[in-house]
Amino acid sequence: MKIGIIGGSGLDDPNILENPSDIEVDTPYGAPNSTLRQGRIAGKDVVLLARHGRSHTATPTHVNYRANIHALRAVGCAAVISTTAVGSLRAEIGRGDLVILDQFIDFTRRRALTFHDRFEPHNPAHTPMADPFSEPLRQLLIDACRKFGYCHHDKGTVVTIEGPRFSTRAESNMFRAWGADVINMSVATECALAVEAGLPYASVAMSTDYDCWKTDEPPVSWEEIVTIFKENAEKVTSVLIEVVGKM
Ligand code: ADE
Repeated sequence: MKIGIIGGSGLDDPNILENPSDIEVDTPYGAPNSTLRQGRIAGKDVVLLARHGRSHTATPTHVNYRANIHALRAVGCAAVISTTAVGSLRAEIGRGDLVILDQFIDFTRRRALTFHDRFEPHNPAHTPMADPFSEPLRQLLIDACRKFGYCHHDKGTVVTIEGPRFSTRAESNMFRAWGADVINMSVATECALAVEAGLPYASVAMSTDYDCWKTDEPPVSWEEIVTIFKENAEKVTSVLIEVVGKM
């Protein structure tokens, strides 16, 4: 079996693969956002995809989530692990902490969020989504964080917003009141599509900022996100390598 890894902003290092080779794949939804890079990690076949493209040109709205998931499944991936930068909506989730997501709230507005654009006659497809992240994969991610002693959180609800703008303070406070723990612009869409496609999916999120609800510090900026994920990216890489080895 192959394992798909979708790398988020700054967390999509293609150099973690041994014997890498690129594969071009087309899908009924168009091309995926990056060429798929196939190789091996810890003796396992892995296929890497950069969510926003290798040069980060796809906005969160225009990432071709359907093509990305379809392409990974088409080349034989049986599970997907993703990485993502998130803003923290909780004081106890600090910068650089890893969060192994267990729930999402979808606050996106204008993107393709299902493979079921039409139903087959008399066969409506309403996919159960109560627990969208794969529990066995989540457990492997948690075990890896524990093994390395990384500051991490065993669960967390992510709210995914449309972006590319950040939230207003009112929105940020509303998401906190809704019970969201972290915020990003991609995971709900990607996770839901992976579940529809029958692919177990889990995500390791790195907290990079406090969005804008925390009034004792300046609101989030892209520069802040980049600085924090550069400082902490190797944590995510070592977690991925450990988990792939155990799969
Ligand atoms: N990704 C990282 N930090 C974020 C934030 N504060 N809002 C949305 N997406 C993010």
